[in-house]
Amino acid sequence: ALAAASAATAQGFPSKPVSIIVPFAAGGPTDVVARLIAVPMGKALGQTVIVDNAVGAGGTIAAAKTARAPHDGHTIFLHHMGMSTAPALYRKLAFDPLKDFEYIGQVVDVPMTLLARKDFPASNFKELQAYLKANGNKVTLANAGLGAVSHLCGLLFMSQIGVELTTVPYKGTGPAMNDLLGGQVDLLCDQTTQTVPFIKDGRIKVYGVTTHNRLASLPDVPTLDEQGLKGFEVKVWHGMYAPKGTPREVIDKLNAALKTAMADPMVTRRLAELSSDIPSADKMTPEGLRSHLQAEIAKWGPVIKKAGIYAD
Ligand code: MLT
Repeated sequence: ALAAASAATAQGFPSKPVSIIVPFAAGGPTDVVARLIAVPMGKALGQTVIVDNAVGAGGTIAAAKTARAPHDGHTIFLHHMGMSTAPALYRKLAFDPLKDFEYIGQVVDVPMTLLARKDFPASNFKELQAYLKANGNKVTLANAGLGAVSHLCGLLFMSQIGVELTTVPYKGTGPAMNDLLGGQVDLLCDQTTQTVPFIKDGRIKVYGVTTHNRLASLPDVPTLDEQGLKGFEVKVWHGMYAPKGTPREVIDKLNAALKTAMADPMVTRRLAELSSDIPSADKMTPEGLRSHLQAEIAKWGPVIKKAGIYAD
């Protein structure tokens, strides 16, 4: 009877608009990806796909909201690798990434860039290091809270150069970028899905990219590694989830829609412009996402525990 009921649910799915919960503010990198794929996913599903920004606590509020949502496929969730760092960062977490979700597939891999407001004194990475050594605690570094990749990137950067900056949390790097553009905050480490257009039109300063190789869309921007931060590498993976108990047939429909969206020429062209990579077919599967998430939880747990960072 259970199997018959779930097959019936799958047949009628989707019977109303599908919401993608995004754990950070509108306009930021996660929101950019969600809105880019929402239209072609909706076309593939034959229903509108809307974006629901549920902000706060480095993405953990949105994850908890997803875990409690009806498991009928009409609520899904797009989150980055914060899903794998949260269990170590938050001693009290209102969800279990490996128990409270179904897995739709990996979505996109996004490099980061180290940025400053346009009129920040240091004009290159070497000057930046010298400036931070002399003025460290007077310099502000924006992030999107504990669990955000902007936070993680900032921590790795500070520990590698041995300087403690004053961090300023936002509800997403969308609003953090607004303050960087307005000159209210000094530095930000953020994903290319948001930063490439601002770098290209010269409205912000860039010191380096966080990948091992330079990016095709920003060929003149050196890597942090080549400028002396040996081994510095952050590439942000993303996954799409549904609440636990969402029928497998519904997950398969969502996965097919995700794959269709990721192959849409408008999406592939835009993601290429933003130097973001589409995962291989085996990663864009429920099993591919779950096993990657599990490996990433195992990877980040000890790193974070050793660093002694906790949210509560
Ligand atoms: C965002 O979408 O605002 C960012 O992904 C937040 C972050 O830095 O993790």
